Amino acid sequence: MGIEIIGTGSSHPKTICTNNDFKNIETSDEWIYTRTGIKQRYLAEEEKTSTLALEAASCAISNANIDVSKIKTVIVATMTPDSFTPAVASKILKPLGIERAMAFDMNVACSGFVYALNVASSLIKDDEYALVIGSECVSKVLDFNDRATCVLFGDGAGAVLLKKSNNNCMFYSTSKTDEDMIIEAPGLSQITTEDTLTNFKLLMKGTDVFKFALDAFSDCLEDLSNKGISVNDIDMIIPHQANKRIILSVSKRYEIDEEKFFLNIEKYGNTSAASIAIALDEAYKSGRIKKGMKILLVGFGSGLSWGYCFLEI
Ligand code: UT7
Repeated sequence: MGIEIIGTGSSHPKTICTNNDFKNIETSDEWIYTRTGIKQRYLAEEEKTSTLALEAASCAISNANIDVSKIKTVIVATMTPDSFTPAVASKILKPLGIERAMAFDMNVACSGFVYALNVASSLIKDDEYALVIGSECVSKVLDFNDRATCVLFGDGAGAVLLKKSNNNCMFYSTSKTDEDMIIEAPGLSQITTEDTLTNFKLLMKGTDVFKFALDAFSDCLEDLSNKGISVNDIDMIIPHQANKRIILSVSKRYEIDEEKFFLNIEKYGNTSAASIAIALDEAYKSGRIKKGMKILLVGFGSGLSWGYCFLEI
């Protein structure tokens, strides 16, 4: 069963942080841009994961112009919820004007948005809509003294409104536990009575994740090929925006024209579960996505986890 995207939206915090704004660490615009493709990112101050999610979802709903009472599933992919409970998805129902819906968060780090699309596709019924949002305030768990991570991430949210369809649509979501844990985000089990959540910061073995990202792409393309879809059948690839060099390596390894990739990492940095959703909204709004196109969304991240959503627009 397929899904059709009938509305998209995105939002970001007000504050822009350029590469030159990192004054207390030894880094440079040149290092960050050449190693990652990032020029700037947005950082939350008073904004929260829920407020960004709400704004992105409101845009997607008004973009689709539908009756909100028919939205019966709301999934927020996030690894940085406002609090452990209630879920961000629950918090935004009332402000969106939705009285009742199955609403929950999913934490699959940077793969969260494609996982959430997969789950939504199995829940959506005829004459109903599903709202899938990726929203993050990664800056809340960053150590701004750690140059290996703080320059990479940014905050933001993207949302899509979906309905059931008979179009060609395929999903793949998979994870494995890696002994060599790559990203350690804060967790309840780590907190002692003296600690607060703010003592726990994101750690990442960047080079290992870089290599894993290439393997994840390879696995996704192999799975698609087993389902009869070759790279030549794909009109646009919207990958998780982690590092421009990952995309250039994939483009070279599989001889995929660079122009096929939609990239906006330069403006946002890595927004984890929000990155594909924001890029999707921008791709629609820029007019690059046209009816009949075949689009591949690829996510990869902590877990390790990875997956894709291939859909015909
Ligand atoms: O979204 C979840 C998934 N995450 C990812 O996909 C991230 C994937 N990984 C990456 O994007 C890259 O591995 C990074 C951008 C994180 C790092 O790039 P790299 O080319 O793998 O650099 P590196 O970690 O090997 O570090 C090279 C050098 C080191 O210095 P030495 O040991 O060679 O003297 C680092 O200390 O660059 C240094 N370095 C920096 N220098 C200036 C690390 N961060 C910085 C920095 N500014 N911000």
